[in-house]
Amino acid sequence: MLTKIFGKELYRALLLLKPKHWRYFTGIVMTAVISTMLTVGRSYAVKVISNAIVSQDPAGFQRGMLQFIVLVLVMVGVFPFFAWMYNKNAKLTGAKMVTLFFENLIHLPVKYFDAHHTGDIVSRMNNDTMAMEGIYGGYLRRMITPFISAIIIAVTMLIYHWKIGTLLILLNLLYVFLNSCYAVPIRTVSEKILADMSKATQKALDFIAGNTTIKVFQLDRMMLERYAATNRELTSHLIKRLTLEGCLEGTNYLLNMVNSIGITTVGFFMAIRYGLDIGSILALMSIQSGLTQALLGLSKNIPIVQESLVGARRVFEFLDEPAEPDYPTKARETKTITSIELKDIHFTYPGEEEPVCQGLNLKIRAGEIIALIGPSGSGKSTILKLLLSFYQPQSGQILINGEPITNYSLKTLRDLIAYVPQEPFLFQGTIEENIRYGKPDATHEEIVRAATLAYAHEFIEQLPDGYQTDISERGASLSGGQKQRIAIARAILKDAPLLLLDEATSALDTRSEYYVQKALQQLMKGRTTIIVAHRLSTIRDAHRVFRMERGRLMEVAR
Ligand SMILES: Nc1ncnc2c1ncn2[C@@H]1O[C@H](COP(=O)(O)OP(=O)(O)OP(=O)(O)O)[C@@H](O)[C@H]1O
Ligand SMILES: [Mg+2]
Repeated sequence: MLTKIFGKELYRALLLLKPKHWRYFTGIVMTAVISTMLTVGRSYAVKVISNAIVSQDPAGFQRGMLQFIVLVLVMVGVFPFFAWMYNKNAKLTGAKMVTLFFENLIHLPVKYFDAHHTGDIVSRMNNDTMAMEGIYGGYLRRMITPFISAIIIAVTMLIYHWKIGTLLILLNLLYVFLNSCYAVPIRTVSEKILADMSKATQKALDFIAGNTTIKVFQLDRMMLERYAATNRELTSHLIKRLTLEGCLEGTNYLLNMVNSIGITTVGFFMAIRYGLDIGSILALMSIQSGLTQALLGLSKNIPIVQESLVGARRVFEFLDEPAEPDYPTKARETKTITSIELKDIHFTYPGEEEPVCQGLNLKIRAGEIIALIGPSGSGKSTILKLLLSFYQPQSGQILINGEPITNYSLKTLRDLIAYVPQEPFLFQGTIEENIRYGKPDATHEEIVRAATLAYAHEFIEQLPDGYQTDISERGASLSGGQKQRIAIARAILKDAPLLLLDEATSALDTRSEYYVQKALQQLMKGRTTIIVAHRLSTIRDAHRVFRMERGRLMEVAR
């Protein structure tokens, strides 16, 4: 029953509170006890004071008041300490969860990013982690507090008068039952809302990233309509949830009324029949609303906490994604390359049917420049991705220095390689920072030297802030050739023995092309290079040329 209402996410979310979980729970339990003791104390004061009035006993009145005031002062004095204890650990756990999220994000394999839309990941990162943080920040407390209050108040009621107490407790339990009936439907609709939010984020990100395509193809109407459709769905689910919550509130309101009229009536008959003192009746009536509040809070929050649990489920789903596999425990080390061999490689992208490599073979000696050519979509870039171990072939072996690459750690392997992708990525930041990613501890002089070799120095100097020029996201303010040269400078700076180059297919003007070509020649000097070539001039620079044909590489005679 409990797992049906809360799912196993709650348990996992609680595990994240370790190792300070006891502080967190002490904070919650103590704040709950303190606030309940105030309610109980008030009812006790009501009892003592009203009985003192009836029996005209000023000493009893004073004693009752004094006890009540002392209780209030003590409780109010220690409350902030426990509230701080709980809040601090709630915040720390929230931050820990977000850190875990990012740690996982950065270690996910390339195939995860290929298979998931950025919008879905961003939505999990924002909406879902925020929903999940709600568990630590408030929801858990809002469930535990009423639970503790309910127990303390119920016991107090039984002490005041066990018969009336039992009756009142049973009435109140009806609340919990009715409210828990709403838990599952609210959870279901909350699942849909978060999924809709993720879809909406994906669409919105497409608007931003694809804005030029949208303009050129005049897709604005169509795109907006699609967004509106997603939004309509989201709105209808939001309304459904509001309706459910509204019905729940109405039901509770009704029960509340029935309850208070019920107790007054019962109290009246009890007083007449059992001669119950007026103080006890008033105390019971005053504390009864405390029980109702507590149970109401409990039953109202069970459905509401579902929203957070759905967020938690999506966050855990993300955290459960396996990280990029790193191979050996006793990894081989190497900093040089003597040979590279691809042996009978068969590879199909996960979830695809069409194989890209079908018994592919390639053998390269150190220092060779190998050009790969072939039609678009034939699998040239894929070969580089296999060498980088972004993907693993289904069969066959990749050997570096005669060792399967699975005998090297990913770090060793990637330290060996400088890779210039087909569409180089520039991070938001300055040009200097972007080049420095090739070697994080490089000096400014080393960066200028790399940029000069990459034929990028000249244009960088002409920019308003030179090397400190801020480039916006994806380097939108730079031309294609300029971006490529920055990526080349980054690769030169890395100074790795194996170079994997994926020439951009987009055409550059002759001048840019000339500079990029020069930069590439610099980069290839003295290094083992595999270059996916789209330009004739690159092919001329290569020692051997291979053509990708039906998933195999054929050497081109020259
Ligand atoms: N992440 C992926 N998931 C599934 N299929 C993919 C993925 N990346 C590429 N493919 C498919 O694999 C095949 C080879 O793609 P690849 O990018 O290696 O081609 P290419 O030879 O580099 O083409 P181009 O010259 O246009 O760059 C294509 O059919 C492509 O659709
Ligand atoms: Mg390609």
